[in-house]
Amino acid sequence: MKNYTTLSALVSPGSAEVFFHTYWNKKFFLNQQGSKELSELFNYQKLAIILNAQAYSLQMPDIRMTMDGQHLEPDEIMESGNYFVVTGKGKKVKISPYKVKNHLKNGASLILNDAHEYDLGLQSFAHTLSREMKLPVSVTVFHSSKGKETFKPHFDPIDVFVIQLEGEKDWVIDGYTANPTMHRDEKDFSPRKKAPAKKFRMRPGDVLYMPSGVWHSAAAASDNSLSLNVSFPYMRKIDLAYAIIGKYLIPNLLNDETLREYMPLPGLGSDRSYASKLRETKNRIQGDIKSLLSEFDDTDLASIMDSLNLFDMNRGMTSSFDNRISFIADKLTK
Ligand SMILES: [Fe+2]
Repeated sequence: MKNYTTLSALVSPGSAEVFFHTYWNKKFFLNQQGSKELSELFNYQKLAIILNAQAYSLQMPDIRMTMDGQHLEPDEIMESGNYFVVTGKGKKVKISPYKVKNHLKNGASLILNDAHEYDLGLQSFAHTLSREMKLPVSVTVFHSSKGKETFKPHFDPIDVFVIQLEGEKDWVIDGYTANPTMHRDEKDFSPRKKAPAKKFRMRPGDVLYMPSGVWHSAAAASDNSLSLNVSFPYMRKIDLAYAIIGKYLIPNLLNDETLREYMPLPGLGSDRSYASKLRETKNRIQGDIKSLLSEFDDTDLASIMDSLNLFDMNRGMTSSFDNRISFIADKLTK
């Protein structure tokens, strides 16, 4: 039997096997066991230390703030700071502790992406979970104030575990969009509602699993709320399709000399001969694609997937569908 220590803690009291079978990619799961161990993964002091220690290296959008569901502008969070190095001194845009603190006091939310890169405890948690699940894992920290929504109702394009660390948060889960292509928010609110909305309160150590496409909103129910989003930026079938098209089909078509001939001038010769040239070209493209696809065996396909999985997929996978495609295109050209 596989060792799922970390995953088991997240899906307690159920087992990892049941989780994969019943919930993974399918439906949300709520663990209200209030695990002390999970709630102690990270805390507000550690967040403050990261913000101070990394003030110069953290830039937007790795750090973001929202107020009433809207993102704040860079100059509302950052300031120009002096820096000194052996070779001289200069100015650099850095986080402004003063501005951040003020926004937090006024009810803004703070979001820190890839927090596992700045904190050893989160790093080892992400590493263990990644090994157990054989997937890349990324940890985002959310800090919000009472009664304020961090975001308007939306769904995320990837699957996440939410772990409540400090304070309490009220959640509403309402609707589902299957196989979503991108991040959506309430302007295009059109979820398929199978079940009535679910409302619940998360307390320290509680865990929520949401597959991509589940519509949700949340607001702190205590003065402050600190929680983690643990996400899995892994592959969809469209990523394989795009890898094949980008890496093999397009270069192959460019190599087909007959496709480099000019199209006949429309209006010269009969309409029928022009139409037949277009059809001939279409058939040629179709033939090229077919013969290329028929050359792929299972090993080739697996190695294309491996070449994509080798990278930290996080940044390219969590945002919009277009970003995802250009992210893969970028990986393929390297
Ligand atoms: Fe979300």
